[in-house]
Amino acid sequence: MRISTAILALLPSLGVVSGYANPGACSGTCTNTHDPSIIRRSDGTYFRFSTGGKIAVHTAPDITGPWTYQGAALPSGSKINLAGNQDLWAPDVSLVGSTYYLYYSVSTFGVQDSAIGVATSSSLDVGTWTDLGSTGIQSASGKPYNAIDPNLINASGTYLITFGSFWQDIYQVAMASTPSTLASGASTYQVAYDPIKTDEEGSFVFKNGNYYYLFFSKGQCCGYDTSKPAAGGEYKIMVCRSTSATGGYVDSTGTACTNSGGTVVLESHGTVYGPGGQGVYNDPTHGPILYYHYVDTTIGYADAQKQFGWNTIDFSSGWPVV
Ligand SMILES: *[C@@H]1O[C@H](CO)[C@@H](O)[C@H](O)[C@H]1NC(C)=O
Repeated sequence: MRISTAILALLPSLGVVSGYANPGACSGTCTNTHDPSIIRRSDGTYFRFSTGGKIAVHTAPDITGPWTYQGAALPSGSKINLAGNQDLWAPDVSLVGSTYYLYYSVSTFGVQDSAIGVATSSSLDVGTWTDLGSTGIQSASGKPYNAIDPNLINASGTYLITFGSFWQDIYQVAMASTPSTLASGASTYQVAYDPIKTDEEGSFVFKNGNYYYLFFSKGQCCGYDTSKPAAGGEYKIMVCRSTSATGGYVDSTGTACTNSGGTVVLESHGTVYGPGGQGVYNDPTHGPILYYHYVDTTIGYADAQKQFGWNTIDFSSGWPVV
């Protein structure tokens, strides 16, 4: 029987069909990998940085593993003078020239007294990171955003950090050419916002073809073992795109990302629950990859049980599909 394509297109939104691939293979330490950041060194070693353990560092010969714990990137915590400076969140690691930059968040759950810090290394190895303290991206009660979840992009030679948030969701700001501090005179602007739910965070900007893709996580991130949201309220991975890195992001229906827009890339399906904290990179063997943390419902819902997930991305439609 021939089913009309219009009906087929409706099925995923009705929850009838999950078109999502299961997470790719992972061996070695694949657990407790909240908000992962993946970077591949030129010698082929993969580094995975994650929330907790003063930024836990794992390495592997491939995205599939085996992942081995190396230690903490910042064993003394951050020198930023805020509560949370011994419990760093949501690392983001990039190579700028010949220096690796590790951005991290100092915050406490549900509070706006937060800052984005930065450390540098010439090798990525544990024991080589120097903490430089705050980038200047900070927030306190009364700001429209929360200064967490940083992501650096080199947009045609201009460094931008996209960050946040909850509160009024996701913001962006220009960084100096040495991107440990704000660009002179830089001001922050909003790039994504759901005015009803105000539940967007964990952004990551990735360029593919002519578009910048703004990936973000939406919903409740954490604590599913003690307080599970109503179905659909848990983390999921969304995307908007723009030909400019600095804004004009829209979803696949044309709705502005600053007005509740966002197309689902990956959400709960099968034994995968609450995927988020994602990043994207172009792997030399597997192509563009979406990586994230998720709950494997056969293992457990606690934050410390979150698993490392990854999938190859098909951009052929102009939108990322996993
Ligand atoms: C940033 O991007 C520009 C243009 O795409 C490139 O020329 C430059 O080398 C990049 N900077 C670094 C440090 O990689």
